[in-house]
Amino acid sequence: MNIQEIIEQIKTIFFSKLPSIQNREDVEKLRIEFLGRKGNIADLMAHFKILPEEERRKFGPIIQKIRSEIEQMLSDKESVYAKATPDDSQKSFFDVTTSLSSELKGTKHIFSQVVEELEDIFISMGYDIVYGNEVEDAYYNFTALNIPENHPAREATDTFWLTKPGMLLRTHTSSVQAHIMKKGKLPLAIFSSGRCYRNEKTDATHDFMFMQYECMFIDTEVSISNLLATAQNFLRALFKREDLNIRVRPGYFPFVEPGVELDATCPFCKGGCAFCKKTGWIEMFGAGLIHPNVLKMSGIDETKYSGFALGGGIERLIMLRHGIPDIRLFRSNKIAFLDQF
Ligand code: PHE
Repeated sequence: MNIQEIIEQIKTIFFSKLPSIQNREDVEKLRIEFLGRKGNIADLMAHFKILPEEERRKFGPIIQKIRSEIEQMLSDKESVYAKATPDDSQKSFFDVTTSLSSELKGTKHIFSQVVEELEDIFISMGYDIVYGNEVEDAYYNFTALNIPENHPAREATDTFWLTKPGMLLRTHTSSVQAHIMKKGKLPLAIFSSGRCYRNEKTDATHDFMFMQYECMFIDTEVSISNLLATAQNFLRALFKREDLNIRVRPGYFPFVEPGVELDATCPFCKGGCAFCKKTGWIEMFGAGLIHPNVLKMSGIDETKYSGFALGGGIERLIMLRHGIPDIRLFRSNKIAFLDQF
């Protein structure tokens, strides 16, 4: 092969390989193959050096040209991949302390604020915080709570049943009760909160998804007066009113006996306002002494131990406190609504 043919061959090979470049490594491989110390151009130069003077003068500029063309094309390719390789992104000079304007700052969602407040109050009363499951076994949501198979609360109109038999979205936070009792540690004092679901039509005070809180205390000789003292202390701390009083009315929940609806004197007025519908009392939550069947089913000796439980809606507390007219606003994704808290 004469020098002219070698030059042509180098060009052909280079241009056939150029399109297969995918990344910077490929660029580097081609650079070594063509421009490296033992590369194609170096071979060409070895041939070039032994040529007669006249030929060298002719081919010198041609070889020079092809070398700088190859260099140029490889560095063009390199700059295409320079920005995209992971290696380089790590070397980028982004200032990690940069911040956007304060207008875009977020705040804790009102649910988180209130849950933290409730937890603080119950922790200060000696309670442990526990977490339940939103996807629950019917056993914990119903059976273990003395809600028999034929109870209306089990009908599909109230419960979101899952396709897996016996599984559901919990309808109340009382579903944590049996989980904790089964652990067998006594006495126990727990507080829990979280989302619950009910398959029912929504209106201003009902949503299919809502937040509840639950408190349970079990020890020897627990009586209704322990429940009343705890409820009053809790509500006084929550509404920051030392003069807040409570009353109970009979209420039916299969897992407590006796069961009560607990009201507080209206924290917003003295003698009647729109919140308490001029009655001076506001309904707060359901409560009662834990039914002996419930204790027994979870392996607690109901002749030795007794306990109380109380539970209510978190949206309701927020609606009362902030004068929110419709529970559905919480899920409306309206920033202006959330901003007020
Ligand atoms: N789980 C009941 C409800 O969802 C409230 C409740 C809790 C009642 C604990 C009594 C004791 O309405």
